[in-house]
Parts: sequence; structure tokens; C-alpha cells
Amino acid sequence: MIIKTLAENTAVSEAFGSEHGLSLYIETAKHHLLFDMGASALFAENAAKMGVDLSTVDIAVLSHDHYDHGGGLKKFLELNQKAKIHVSAQAFGKRYAKSPDGKYKYIGIDESLLSHDRFVFVSGYMRINEEMELFSGVRPVKFAPSGNKDLFMMRGDSMVPDDFAHEQNLIIREGGKVVLIAGCAHNGIVNIIEHMQTAGYGSPTHVIGGFHLYNRSADRDEDPELVGRIGNRLNETDSQYYTCHCTGIGSYNILKTIMGDRIGYLASGSQILI
Ligand SMILES: [Fe+2]
Ligand SMILES: [Fe+2]
Repeated sequence: MIIKTLAENTAVSEAFGSEHGLSLYIETAKHHLLFDMGASALFAENAAKMGVDLSTVDIAVLSHDHYDHGGGLKKFLELNQKAKIHVSAQAFGKRYAKSPDGKYKYIGIDESLLSHDRFVFVSGYMRINEEMELFSGVRPVKFAPSGNKDLFMMRGDSMVPDDFAHEQNLIIREGGKVVLIAGCAHNGIVNIIEHMQTAGYGSPTHVIGGFHLYNRSADRDEDPELVGRIGNRLNETDSQYYTCHCTGIGSYNILKTIMGDRIGYLASGSQILI
């Protein structure tokens, strides 16, 4: 399969735009899939530059409820007339980030789009087709990203810590490869991999996604000691890793030192073959 990075915090060259967000285009033998749509219409601009025709996408997935993954949703609905967009059953909740000055900033997705008839609401587990599955229900039992503590949701009239029940992960199986794709991995990339295994979905040969080891609202990298423990744990697996976005460059550099060739970085404009 081919994986093209349409939007990410950095770019491979000045020819491509970058933003705090994530969007991946994935082409298998049978399907064209869009995983997240970045923070804006940037994903579509980079797609055109990379020769990706977004009108041919037949499946779309929104990993979770944050604007940096679903901000381009409106643009995608304009450009594509056929793909169902698989969102969590908890999607379109009211999500907030708390700034260091104590103010809450709305970071959810545009609720006015909820009336669209193209959404498929996924609860727990769903087999999308012969190649693709979605799962959620991961709990942040260990190695949980500390940046989560600044992320909140409205429940009724109360602001409460976000429970990240709206986060779902994608598995793509093709030609003996088992590719696990996460958006921000708010529940912790180690927990997501272990949940996949204990739920009986198998072990990934490849893992792709942001690992949320950078706290954007506080502009601070994750504790290097925790990043080191995560790197050592990932090194115990047989998977190849590609990360980006909310992993943060500082945390990525620590993982790279520990994991070497077992981890790579996906910037806007990059393309990998799996
Ligand atoms: Fe994110
Ligand atoms: Fe997020």
C-alpha cells in the first residue's frame, strides 16, 4: 500500500504546506482511504500537488474529535461525493484545551456538519470491508501522555477531563501486512497496541500515527523519562514505526535515538510504500 502524508506539522520541502494537524491518504489494491483531514483545507492543496484525486476516496475515517484532525471535514465533503466518513459514536462532542492562563479554548469539530448524511457512527469495533477495521475502547492504563491533563470536554453543564472515548484506531490488512494507524494516540500508543493484541485483532507489522508526546497548549515536550520508557517498550515489539504530528520533534528525537531504523518521521509531502 502507498501512504501519502497530506498534512502534518512539518513538510519535506517548501513545495508543501504544513500545519498543526494530520491527514493521511492511503491507497491499497482495492480502496482509496482518507485518514483524518488536518486542521484546514491544506490537506487538499497538498493532495493536488501529490497527484491525489480526493474525489476517488471511497472510505474516510476521522480518528477523533479534535479540530487538527477534522478541521478539513467541510472541504472534504465538498470535494468528495461518495465516501462514508467513519466517526466515533462519541464524535461531535464539545472538546476544549486549557491554556496556561486558565482559559478554555474550543478544539472540537464543526458541529454544523453533524446534519450531513455521510457519517457512519462507530461504536467499539467495526469491520469496514475485507481490508479495514476500526476499534476503540482503549484505556490509558500505562505510559499515558501527560498532555492529556490539559484537555477537557463538556458533560452536561460541567467541564470535565476528556475521557478520549471518541478516539478510534484503524487496522489495514493487505498482502500479509497489518498496519495500525492512530491519530493522536491520546490513550497511549503502547495501550493501543496492547489492546489490539488482547482483543484478538493481531499484532501490527507497522504502526503509524501521532503519539501525543508534545503538549501544544503548554508548548512543552513530554517528560523525556516517559518518552524513553515508551521507546524501550516499542523496541520490544516486532513492528516498524512511523510517527509525526503531536509526537513533537523533541520527543521524536529521543525515540529515534532509542529505536534507530525502527522509527521514521512522516512530514507533509512524504510518501511511503508498505
Ligand atoms: Fe492531534
Ligand atoms: Fe488530538
